[in-house]
Amino acid sequence: MKQRTLAGRQVSAIGLGAMPMSMNNDNQFPSHDDAVATVHAALDAGVTLIDTADIYAPSWDAMGHNERIVAEALRTWSGDSSEVFVTTKGGITRSDGEKWGRNGSAAYLREAVEKSLDNLGVDVIELYQYHRPDRWLVYGDIMTSLAGLQQEGLVRAVGISNASVEEIEIAQQVLGEGNLASVQNEFSPRHPGSIDELRYCGEHDIAFLPWSPLGGTGGGGGRNVGDRFEAFREVGDARGVSPQQVVLAWELALDPHVIPIPGARRPASITDSAQAVHIELSDDEVAALSRSVGIDD
Ligand SMILES: NC(=O)c1ccc[n+]([C@@H]2O[C@H](COP(=O)([O-])OP(=O)(O)OC[C@H]3O[C@@H](n4cnc5c(N)ncnc54)[C@H](OP(=O)(O)O)[C@@H]3O)[C@@H](O)[C@H]2O)c1
Repeated sequence: MKQRTLAGRQVSAIGLGAMPMSMNNDNQFPSHDDAVATVHAALDAGVTLIDTADIYAPSWDAMGHNERIVAEALRTWSGDSSEVFVTTKGGITRSDGEKWGRNGSAAYLREAVEKSLDNLGVDVIELYQYHRPDRWLVYGDIMTSLAGLQQEGLVRAVGISNASVEEIEIAQQVLGEGNLASVQNEFSPRHPGSIDELRYCGEHDIAFLPWSPLGGTGGGGGRNVGDRFEAFREVGDARGVSPQQVVLAWELALDPHVIPIPGARRPASITDSAQAVHIELSDDEVAALSRSVGIDD
C-alpha cells in the first residue's frame, strides 16, 4: 500500500471514512457485525488510517457510536492493529430533539476529548480534528484551547475541518509553524470548491483529507459517481477499474499531501477503493479530469 505522511507518521494513502456505518444520508445502517467486518476489510486491504468523529451516530443520544465500532474492530482484528492511525473530531453538538450546534469552548472540547478517549479506548488521540467553526467564538482562541490539550498530552496532533484558507492561516499561527497536521474539507468531482484549501495545504506541507471524496452516501453519491461524472467512468472503463478508483487516483494525483478517506458500509466498497493507490494517471489524464469538473491548472 502506497504511504503518505500524516502528523509525522506514515499512513496508507487511502484511509477509511467510518461515518456511513453510523450516520448517512439514506439512513441505511449495516448490522454491528457487518460494520466491524467492513473495518476489518479495510485493514486487510492495507488501510492504516481510519477517520471517525464523536457525532457519528444514528441518533443524538448514541454519540460515540462510530468511535466504539472502530475501537472494537481494532480489538478484534486478527492482524497487528498497533500501527493503525485513528483520527477523530469534536466541536459539533447533538442534543435532545436532534438539535445540532457547535461548541468550540475550552470546557466543551476538553469534555469531548475525554469522551472520545474513552470511546476509542486509548490514552492519547493521535490526531484530533476541530470539526466545524463555532462562529460565536474567535477561531484563534479555539486553536489556543486545542494547543492546550496537545500540551497536556491528551491529543498528539491537531487538525481542523471545514476551514477556509484564512482559518488555516490562523491555526498555523496559533499552533506554531509545522504544528497544524491536517485540514479535512469536502472535496470531490461533485464538490471541487475546496481546491484553494487543497493547494494551500500542498504549499505549506499540511495533509489534506478530502471528505466525501466520492460525493457522499445516498442518491447521486459515491455509489453512482461514474453515472454522474462521465470523464471518470471513461478512464475507468479504459483501464478496467471502477470509476470510484479513478476519482480517488485523481485526488491523490492532485498533490502528495492529499489523503482521501472514502466511506464504506460494505467490505467490497473499501476493498475496491483501496486499490486506487495502484493507478498512475498521466499528467494529461489528471488535467482532463480536473477540467471536466471545472478546475483549471
Ligand atoms: N469533516 C466533515 O465535516 C465530514 C463530513 C462528511 C464526511 N466526512 C468524512 O468523510 C468520509 C467519507 O465521506 P462519505 O462516506 O460521506 O462519502 P464518500 O466517501 O464520498 O462516499 C461513500 C459512499 O460511496 C460508496 N462507495 C465507496 N467506495 C466505493 C466503491 N469503490 N465502489 C462503489 N461504491 C463505493 C459507499 O457505498 P456503500 O455504502 O455501499 O459501502 C458509500 O455509499 C466519512 O466517512 C467521514 O469520515 C467528514
